Amino acid sequence: VRSKVIAIDGPAAAGKSTIAQKVAQMLGYVYIDTGAMYRAVTLKALNQNIDVEDEETIAKMLQDTSIRLTNDKKVFLDGEDVTDAIRQPIVSQNVSAVSAHKFVRDELKRRQIEYAKTDNVVMDGRDIGTNVLPDADYKIFMTASVEVRAQRRYDENLRRNIPCDLETLKQEIQTRDELDSTRKHSPLIKAEDAIVVDTSDLTIDEVIDAIINIVKGGE
Ligand code: C5P
Repeated sequence: VRSKVIAIDGPAAAGKSTIAQKVAQMLGYVYIDTGAMYRAVTLKALNQNIDVEDEETIAKMLQDTSIRLTNDKKVFLDGEDVTDAIRQPIVSQNVSAVSAHKFVRDELKRRQIEYAKTDNVVMDGRDIGTNVLPDADYKIFMTASVEVRAQRRYDENLRRNIPCDLETLKQEIQTRDELDSTRKHSPLIKAEDAIVVDTSDLTIDEVIDAIINIVKGGE
């Protein structure tokens, strides 16, 4: 039998990764954070002083880049733990430029499809249900108002002792959504057959329940 796929797409800071990881845990699936893969590529480009607009050089770099995701949300780039480094503002500010390049998308998509061949997966991102795994068993489009998303990211940063400013966060989230939604290759867009889950007024547990119900309902 073919492995099962739950695709969770949506705008920045909608809570996708928190929810996707928990749902994966509950179902015994492997969690794949595709945003972390784009972030890792961006971090490496920045570290090597490669211009984020320089698709050709990034493409070459990517050919000998290893990215490993673990089920407890750790990210390894060429063997080094970059779990925290890929969340830095400088990476968030440049990731949309890197992820707009067709070669980068094609290569990461190839790797993402590979994961889904061997394991049941919960995969979160921007284009999983539309482009990477359009035959996914379940497609969720997770959103929340930009105010709620900014506030959650703000609270999360405070908990992790990362200084930040609410208004700046809101602007960064809006800019990233705008860039991700308007790029030429596989932009952020709801798949026609995706179920929308608006998390603005829901707790984490309520969102998890909603998704588990969708999955159980379809069995
Ligand atoms: O999910 P996260 O916010 O960490 O994603 C970081 C960035 O990676 C997004 O803003 C987007 O530019 C890119 N991305 C993408 N396609 C995906 C996942 C993420 O283009 N499937």
